[in-house]
Amino acid sequence: MARATKLTAAALLALCLVSVSLSGAAAKSSYSKKKSSSSSSKNEYPKAPKGTILATAELKAASGVKSTGGKGYAYLMLVKGGPYTSYIKLTGKLRQVTMAHVHWMNATAKNPIRLGLFPAVTAPATPVLLNPPFSYNKGEVTFERPWNETDIGYWGVSLDTFLDLLRNRELYVNVHTVGYPGGEIQGTLKCKSPCRFD
Ligand SMILES: *[C@@H]1O[C@H](CO)[C@@H](O)[C@H](O)[C@H]1NC(C)=O
Ligand SMILES: *[C@@H]1O[C@H](CO)[C@@H](O)[C@H](O)[C@H]1NC(C)=O
Repeated sequence: MARATKLTAAALLALCLVSVSLSGAAAKSSYSKKKSSSSSSKNEYPKAPKGTILATAELKAASGVKSTGGKGYAYLMLVKGGPYTSYIKLTGKLRQVTMAHVHWMNATAKNPIRLGLFPAVTAPATPVLLNPPFSYNKGEVTFERPWNETDIGYWGVSLDTFLDLLRNRELYVNVHTVGYPGGEIQGTLKCKSPCRFD
C-alpha cells in the first residue's frame, strides 16, 4: 500500500487493518476551552525553515473525561510552498484509539473536523475509523503525514480560512477512542507568531 506516511510499528499495524466509514454520531466532538497560559516559549515548536507556519497542541483529558492515561503532543508544520506535515505523538496509555482530527471550536456548528490526522481521510467529509482500534500501554505512538489543500478542502474550507482559524486559536486536536467517541484527549493548537508565511 502506497502510503506516504511515517509510522511506528504499532501504528502501522493498526493502519494496515481494514478501515471502515463512519457515519455521523461517532465523529462528533465536544470541546470546551480550558485555561491555558497564553504565553508560549519558542522551545515548544519544532525546528523549521524561516517563514514556516508552526502550531502545536498539548493533548490532555477532554472535558467530561473523568480519567485517562493518555496524553500527547501534536504539531502542524507548513513550510512555505509546501510540503505541509502533521505530527501527533501519543504517550502514557490509551485504549481503543479510533482516529484523530483537527476540529473547529464551534459548538453551534458541532465542532466540525477541519483536517484528518489519522487514519488518512481520502474522500470529502468522510471520517474513517481504525478497525480494529489500537491500544497501547506505555511508550509512544506517533503518526506523521504530509497533507495539502485537498485535505483541508475535504472539510469544505480553504487554506486561508483554515489559517484564519489557526491564528484565532479556534482549532484543536482531538483523539477519539471507543470509550470516548467524542474525544478522549485534546488540546488547542497554538500557532507561533506571526502565523503567516513570510
Ligand atoms: C459557528 O458556526 C456557525 C454555523 O456554521 C456560524 O454561523 C457561526 O458564525 C460560527 N461561529 C463563529 C464564531 O465563527
Ligand atoms: C495533495 O496530496 C494528494 C495525495 O498525496 C495528491 O494526490 C494531490 O495531487 C495533492 N493536491 C495538491 C493540490 O497538491
